[in-house]
Amino acid sequence: MRSAGERRELLKAVYEEARECVRCPLHQTRTTVVFGAGNANADLMFIGEAPGANEDRQGLPFVGQAGKLLDKLLLEIGLDRREVFVANTVKCRPPNNRDPHPNEIEACQDYLRRQVDLIEPVVICTLGNFSTKLLRADNTGISRLHGRLEELLIGRRAVRLYPLYHPAAALYTPATLEALRADFLRIPELLALGPPEQPDLAHDLRELEEEEEEEELPELEEPEHSLDAAAIAAAQPAPATQLGLF
Ligand code: URA
Repeated sequence: MRSAGERRELLKAVYEEARECVRCPLHQTRTTVVFGAGNANADLMFIGEAPGANEDRQGLPFVGQAGKLLDKLLLEIGLDRREVFVANTVKCRPPNNRDPHPNEIEACQDYLRRQVDLIEPVVICTLGNFSTKLLRADNTGISRLHGRLEELLIGRRAVRLYPLYHPAAALYTPATLEALRADFLRIPELLALGPPEQPDLAHDLRELEEEEEEEELPELEEPEHSLDAAAIAAAQPAPATQLGLF
């Protein structure tokens, strides 16, 4: 079990890595990597689509009109942005606000998984189609899934996934806003459920080892995204303004 401080430091280390990222062509056109912002120990996490022009300039997610609506809806359920963590499916702005391409989503997803792994949220609200489809690994659209709670394994972490309409879609469509607001009202009750039962990783590992012995498989390799303790220890703290950790 990590302390709140440890979690923050580990998250900063991932941010340090992400801000140098050249894994996809979006690094050529971005101004800033928009890693995500908020409470590293949040029970509630929101995952949007991609930074827009304002976010790209400021280095923070959801700072435009959609962000203002997000803040308003949070306030209506008694929450403040500083209590939650907000991130995006891709961390760099696609030029001219086009949709992120599959190769960009693929290249960026490791950062998102590491964020989830470190923050250990109870509830993840995906905002719109892109994050919902990515996390569910399925093409079902948000209009069918919004407001439907499910349990999902993300990396090593079981979470409660609660897809919502993207606030930008609700800005100009009253019926979407109404649905988004109604879905939001259930968030406190979902948070009160606490985390879902977590997979017994020690048990899974023992089973794997037993299988390995039986089949004389080669040794298991570390997962690609596993954090290297030495690299983390060496990482410098991020400037608080861009990471936006409170
Ligand atoms: N829309 C998003 O999906 N993310 C942002 O950060 C801003 C707008």
